[in-house]
Amino acid sequence: MTSRMAGPLRLGVIGLGSVFEPYSKSIRDLEYEGLLETTILCDVDASRASRGQMFLNRALPFTTNYQEVLDRVDVDAVLVITSMMEHAEIAAAALRAGKHVLVEKPMSTNLETAAQLVLLAAECNRTLVCAPHVVLSPTYQALWKKVVVDKEIGSVLTARARYGWSGPSWGQWFYRTGGGPLFDLGVYNITSLVGLMGSVQRVTAMAGTAIPERVVDGESIKVENFDNFQILLDFGDSRFASVTTGFTMQDYRSPALELYGLTGVAQMLGDDWAPQGYEITKTDAPGWTLYGEADPTWPWTAGLRHLVECVLHEAPLLVRPEHAYHCLEVMIKAQIAAETGKSQDVLSRAPAIPYEVDEIYIQTGGKVGHDSRIRRHREV
Ligand SMILES: NC(=O)c1ccc[n+]([C@@H]2O[C@H](COP(=O)([O-])OP(=O)(O)OC[C@H]3O[C@@H](n4cnc5c(N)ncnc54)[C@H](O)[C@@H]3O)[C@@H](O)[C@H]2O)c1
Repeated sequence: MTSRMAGPLRLGVIGLGSVFEPYSKSIRDLEYEGLLETTILCDVDASRASRGQMFLNRALPFTTNYQEVLDRVDVDAVLVITSMMEHAEIAAAALRAGKHVLVEKPMSTNLETAAQLVLLAAECNRTLVCAPHVVLSPTYQALWKKVVVDKEIGSVLTARARYGWSGPSWGQWFYRTGGGPLFDLGVYNITSLVGLMGSVQRVTAMAGTAIPERVVDGESIKVENFDNFQILLDFGDSRFASVTTGFTMQDYRSPALELYGLTGVAQMLGDDWAPQGYEITKTDAPGWTLYGEADPTWPWTAGLRHLVECVLHEAPLLVRPEHAYHCLEVMIKAQIAAETGKSQDVLSRAPAIPYEVDEIYIQTGGKVGHDSRIRRHREV
């Protein structure tokens, strides 16, 4: 592969909250490999300046004004990990300033600015990676190949997905208008399902605020958004899925994804942001075959390495902004459906994920209870 840009990619980080810590591990790994160099950190909260020293082990220039990050010539790309309501404005300004962008989910809290981001990335010829990065996990890619390419369970007719927890005790914005568990958690399930089942054509939902008051950052606050969702997705041709999400789930022991196909069933184990492998049973070969996680160290922050590989090595962009836009439309229409009691048509369509199939990790199966061996598989 030819290099589009000489490395390292110079990074500005905007937002130094809780998620900066897991991203900092990926930053350190990439810096160690000489692929990345962090040049400036930013947070509106000046007290967060010390987190550079804390998590990157060195003092770095710091600003409370993100525009200063975008004005710097020694910044090629920005990592936008602020509260959700700030994502679109900062990502758009960054693209206009000629920076490559990784923006945490959701890319925006409304469709108009999300559409602008997709267009801006194309117009400015910059790479825009929109979290979540679930389609990058080895388990997801192997499952996708079995289901979408090899059609091992036939056409997926019905599916269930879930992701939730009791909710953050930090960041009051999670509970304000524009926040909430659908954008924060359900987005993982919807992103996964769209990659496996195609675009959603219609959505309906029930949602409510099950816990109207919470203690967050030591203060009692009123919850302004829905914290509890049951969503139904229509993929066309009588193929449906349900998504259960909320800041209302204390724990679970169920697969992240259950895919019921015409000739078999596939389940992703763990969470789709931290998969623990998958299992498949087929009508003509009963019994479950377990495929263990190919890389238990795979981090959900992998989108940062992906951004670096896309910019420096012209790797194909797998975490596509159009996919994120479609999922955002599904989530926004789900909330409208919950408010109005009427199902909503979804107008956008997600592109297929452009995996290079022969590069996908394939896990060799073992019967449940046995170790599964992992090998790098190349199709010929
Ligand atoms: N916390 C998690 O486990 C987790 C996991 C995956 C993704 N995410 C996503 O990461 C993002 C951040 O989550 P978090 O938990 O770190 O939130 P947080 O509240 O802990 O941190 C957000 C930070 O952004 C800063 N900020 C807000 N507006 C800003 C602006 N205009 N300029 C610069 N800084 C600004 C805040 O001061 C704060 O320090 C969210 O989009 C969230 O959905 C969070």
